[in-house]
Amino acid sequence: MELKWSVVIESLPLLAEGALVTLKITVIAVTLGSIIGLFAGLMRIARNPLLKFIARVYVDFIRGTPLLVQIFIIYYGFPQLWAALTGGQPQAISPWAAAIASTSINSGAYVAEIFRAGIQSIDRGQMEAARSLGMTYGQAMRYVILPQAFKRVIPPLGNEFIAMLKDTSLLSVIGFEELARRGALIIGYNARAFEVWFAVAILYLIMTLLISQLVSFTERRLKTGDHH
Ligand code: ARG
Repeated sequence: MELKWSVVIESLPLLAEGALVTLKITVIAVTLGSIIGLFAGLMRIARNPLLKFIARVYVDFIRGTPLLVQIFIIYYGFPQLWAALTGGQPQAISPWAAAIASTSINSGAYVAEIFRAGIQSIDRGQMEAARSLGMTYGQAMRYVILPQAFKRVIPPLGNEFIAMLKDTSLLSVIGFEELARRGALIIGYNARAFEVWFAVAILYLIMTLLISQLVSFTERRLKTGDHH
């Protein structure tokens, strides 16, 4: 059986749809993940030992277990847990809901570490100076530390976005129709494993290259705003 690249052209519209879904779920995951991550990161450096402990357990559990298993826990496990707790019948959750929940919660743990590192990279003197001017810890964090930290976390956040974009392919195991799942479905019809998987790879590559370009562009823009 010869290679037949025309199958790639034929399946391109379907693959492009999958790529769009991949992009969408990644944007949602990293956006929600950044909100979760900001709070979890702040909790990690809080003085309150309970807040610290909760954030630590969250980050350790998520980063110490495979995303694949987390997806299974949410998609297959949670409906059963819910039924056990309420005494009712298990209610299936949609692949979209499970996809958003698993990837956002996962990304949040990685982003928490990014924020924690970003905040801790700001010179201690900044906090001390702000406090000596009469600001509370919260005000100093909000108006002095975080604005500086946000600039520093842009490159690692870009890396998280790229990593997540590729890792969303794991969602294909719950039938979530992103790019990798689309590829598998198309091969189910035409049996053209090499051509289609190669095309899928190229589509991921195009997306990751575009994003890394975007990240280095914003990085340069932010640098020109600094005077040192
Ligand atoms: N590959 C790792 C895993 O399977 C990380 C997945 C999540 N990646 C991310 N950038 N949030 O556990």
